[in-house]
Amino acid sequence: MKIIKTVEEMRQYSRQCRQRGLRLACVPTMGYLHEGHASLISAARHSHDEVVTSIFVNPTQFGPHEDFERYPRDFDRDHRVVDQAGGTVIFAPSVDEMYPLGASTSIAVRGVSEPFEGAFRPGHFTGVATIVARLLLAIEPDAAFFGAKDFQQTLVIRRMVHDLGIASDVIVLSTIREADGLAKSSRNVYLTADQRHRATALYRALRAAEDAIHDGAYQKQIIDNAMHDVLRSVDGIEIDYASAADASTLATPDIFEAGARIVCLIAVRLGSTRLIDNMEFTIGMKA
Ligand code: PAF
Repeated sequence: MKIIKTVEEMRQYSRQCRQRGLRLACVPTMGYLHEGHASLISAARHSHDEVVTSIFVNPTQFGPHEDFERYPRDFDRDHRVVDQAGGTVIFAPSVDEMYPLGASTSIAVRGVSEPFEGAFRPGHFTGVATIVARLLLAIEPDAAFFGAKDFQQTLVIRRMVHDLGIASDVIVLSTIREADGLAKSSRNVYLTADQRHRATALYRALRAAEDAIHDGAYQKQIIDNAMHDVLRSVDGIEIDYASAADASTLATPDIFEAGARIVCLIAVRLGSTRLIDNMEFTIGMKA
């Protein structure tokens, strides 16, 4: 496994790969890797000769009272996960490397970044778009792989890559879940045993939305109520949002048209831990 720490070395390595006719993918991460990341790395390796996993806890996407300091970090563990999943390179730059002194450029994506996470975490998606652009410019991959768990993030990244004409394909793969449905997340490690048990409500709420859609719901309110009912039935869950939205634009009309592709998005707080999840459906049909 090759470990690269500087942008210059990363770019040289990537260019050498291309000169040798190799296809290179990247999997951007903030480390503390789980099976979701491993599945992205394996899938990327399946279709590419080299897979760069970037590990960088990006300070600019955390708000002032969020968990940047306590975000879990374990490089040796991450190294093992990348190795076992078939990754070939870890790119682990420092904060100074990614944000050189005096750096004063950021990338704000309007529209899809504004509702939901954008409203609850001001500045978050500007931090995400800026670091992902910086990573893609350093790694210059043929394709970048992301997990669908961060659904709104994938819309923001697709928009940014399209608008800036970055020549990397954006590939989004399904959320990997625990046996009881909880989406895998580096933040699950914060949950106490009791909170971990309650956290299954997110998946159950999404399944309730699915049932409502399957029963013929077209109205956003009915789908939202199905999710809220499940979440409200669990003590200790504070709902930031649980809402159906158009899966491409995140628009929230009162009524969805038959055949519309929608996403149900949830964000809740359980104690000091914030969890998000989502599921996509087609109105008028089962998922
Ligand atoms: O999804 C994440 O882990 C991060 O938001 C990302 C895409 C690596 C940017 O820091």
